[in-house]
Amino acid sequence: MTLTTATAPEAAADGDDLRVWPASTARLPHGGLAVGGVPLTEIAERFDTPAYVLDEAEVRARCRAYRQAFPDAEVLYAAKAFLSRAMVRWIDEEGLGLDVCSAGELELAVTAGFPPERTVLHGNAKSPRDLATALRLGVGRIVIDSPSEIARIAAAVGPSGRQQVMVRVVPGVSAGGHEKIRTGTDDQKFGLSLQDGSAQHAVTRVLRQPQLELTGLHCHIGSQITDTAPYTAAVRRMVGLMARIRDTHGHTLPELDLGGGHGIAYRPGEPALDLPALARAVRTELSRSCAAARLPEPRLLVEPGRAVAGPAGVAVYRVLAVKQTGDRVFVAVDGGMSDNPRPALYGVRYAPRLVGRTPGAPPRTTTVVGRHCEAGDILAADVPLPGDIRPGDLLAVPVAGAYQLSMASGYNLVGRPPVVAVHEGTARLLVRRETLEDLRSRDIGA
Ligand code: LLP
Repeated sequence: MTLTTATAPEAAADGDDLRVWPASTARLPHGGLAVGGVPLTEIAERFDTPAYVLDEAEVRARCRAYRQAFPDAEVLYAAKAFLSRAMVRWIDEEGLGLDVCSAGELELAVTAGFPPERTVLHGNAKSPRDLATALRLGVGRIVIDSPSEIARIAAAVGPSGRQQVMVRVVPGVSAGGHEKIRTGTDDQKFGLSLQDGSAQHAVTRVLRQPQLELTGLHCHIGSQITDTAPYTAAVRRMVGLMARIRDTHGHTLPELDLGGGHGIAYRPGEPALDLPALARAVRTELSRSCAAARLPEPRLLVEPGRAVAGPAGVAVYRVLAVKQTGDRVFVAVDGGMSDNPRPALYGVRYAPRLVGRTPGAPPRTTTVVGRHCEAGDILAADVPLPGDIRPGDLLAVPVAGAYQLSMASGYNLVGRPPVVAVHEGTARLLVRRETLEDLRSRDIGA
């Protein structure tokens, strides 16, 4: 993947490039920036920092873009990217389903009013509580990820019940923005191998269980994929397996779930997966492969997470300290790896920006670090920021809506930031800040 550098022409010298920001983002006088019609300085004043801002219109527009690109498919939002009750409602109102991977995600969705039949439960190691909760709440489908789950789910369903399931297949296609998020080949923990016959074997066993109704096959080849070719390769292999299942068992599976993984740009100029191009390529390949195998085309499912939530979020931090060490300038903010572990985990690069005042000096190369007690707590290394950045300034980081707060930790007992929804000039708190009282109250030992 080609990454732009701080000196690339797209990253305007004054850092004023808003291409990866929500569509509603507007410049205000004196270096201000508004998202969803609300100035980020106002967010910082009302809700304190760090704070996560989520643009409702951007989330909804992204849901609609999926419905439009895949009009005949079922689009499931992958809750692991970010979930809250408001998010559940937006996803429901936009007609998407939900991909969940724990009792926690499912319970939050269903208690917020989400129709359980439009949920799909994933997980390579579902706990007894996950399965019991899923069956109690009436989950739509369960995706089987290992052979031992087959008998477990059948037993939990009971003799008179019937549960829709899919089998997660590893198609042998390598894709994804980082080694830790590549899941399409046999050298990782998810799914059942197509190559070594485990997937076929699992399908045979599922078809013999009267309590289980196999609706189709699932694959998720990786995350932050910016090219359509791995998806079409996966379609070819999955259709090949569906044809073999038809030949062996006389059973035509009605569904094919291609998972998520659709890549987005975190900095101006970075590549992103082109959604209409993906939809066209997948459709064409599905028609071609199915015609060649004389299979009816299965109904498609897709499971985007990052591409729905990521670009709709902005993290707002306050600068606490500025330090020059040798030839490096460190700007330390009031958040860090506890609210965004992604740079430390995957080496992801972000493009922070000064908001709320006009820069008084030309940009210089700066490293934005967090407040946590380790040297790896870096939010953005070597980014251009005004040379007069000082404590009290606000820094905003775009593309902060996915896999940041959902992966937030309690490190250093700093407490997790709030989530504020912005929409048509109004800001409202969705998730409140974790307080010292919250942190203390869970600790009940003497
Ligand atoms: N479906 C399944 C079965 C998945 O495991 C995932 C993500 C998705 C859908 C959604 O993938 P997306 O469209 O969001 O790429 N923490 C990492 C990403 C981990 C993705 C895990 N599975 C990150 O921050 O980049």
